[in-house]
Amino acid sequence: MPDFAPKKSLAPGADDPAAPSRIVSGAAIDDDARLDASVRPKRLDEYIGQKRVKENISIAIEAARSRGEALDHVLLYGPPGLGKTTLAVIIANELDVPIKTSAGPLLERKGDLTAILTALEKKEVFFLDEIHRLQAAVEEVLYPAMEDFRVDLVIGQGPGARIHPFHLNHFTLIGATTRAGLITAPLRSRFGIVHRLEFYEPEDLLIILHRSAKILNIQMDEAGAQEIAGRCRGTPRVANRLLRRARDFAEVRAAGRITREVAQDSLRMLGVDEHGLDEVDRNLMIALLDKYAGGPVGLGTLAAALSEEEDAIEEMYEPYLMQIGMLDRTPRGRVATPRAYEYFGRELPKRQPRLF
Ligand code: ADE
Repeated sequence: MPDFAPKKSLAPGADDPAAPSRIVSGAAIDDDARLDASVRPKRLDEYIGQKRVKENISIAIEAARSRGEALDHVLLYGPPGLGKTTLAVIIANELDVPIKTSAGPLLERKGDLTAILTALEKKEVFFLDEIHRLQAAVEEVLYPAMEDFRVDLVIGQGPGARIHPFHLNHFTLIGATTRAGLITAPLRSRFGIVHRLEFYEPEDLLIILHRSAKILNIQMDEAGAQEIAGRCRGTPRVANRLLRRARDFAEVRAAGRITREVAQDSLRMLGVDEHGLDEVDRNLMIALLDKYAGGPVGLGTLAAALSEEEDAIEEMYEPYLMQIGMLDRTPRGRVATPRAYEYFGRELPKRQPRLF
């Protein structure tokens, strides 16, 4: 898969090898990319979970194939690590077309994007990660490209400059983002197929874990798999990462087989609790509960208290804390839920008029 090498940093949610090295982060870290490549499903029927998305995409692919046309543009959004890139590669495989990839922050000038677009083959897939981070001027190049398969080349400079329309091959743009709310309306409206990827159910994570263990030749029993499935934050990338760490532990401290006990011990050593929360999540929740009396507290204040980036809190920590019902976002700020009080052993205040 041709890649346009990063010149700029990617956001915390992006598939960035330089992203913070947090064991339960959905973002790609250290050698995830290599591991992901070996266990990543290549075809739609190997892709577990996301049933609704899969069904819809499968129909769209079949229809496009039978018409002999490029697939409509696809926007995939949702928290990091749920398989947006994997799905893009699968779509290209199923369409039997090549794929080029890039990411919003890597395209600094209009010319960077134009160079890619003008080189796309007929029906080729162009996967654009972190599409919400495109600069406005660069994003504008996409509008006629997506709608009319055209880029407007400017020839010359100053008053004598002329606009020369250049016709592109019909291609499929697959945009991915962890921040759907930041996609501009004109961009969003140009996608014909829009899907949100959800956190995975434990049953699906179990299947994914057993599949990865088989590919990687890892011995693991059902109870060991359940333990990892319960602590991977509904995120396959985290599941696969924890699987590797549990394997290391099993090889060094046990008989090489991941059992419930081995999984529990290795995850405890990594600081990952029964819900998959790590030190950062716990610090966030404890700050919210103790320092800010359960909230509401603004994102900026919370980020400053934790010395974390606001973006990282919004993209990586909060989605899962909200999913498991520990934290809510309200117009007045972040609040801890009664479940969070219970989980962290704090007494629920008698009155919470702000929220409940
Ligand atoms: N590995 C990562 N995501 C997966 C998925 N959805 N299905 C199968 N294997 C995966």
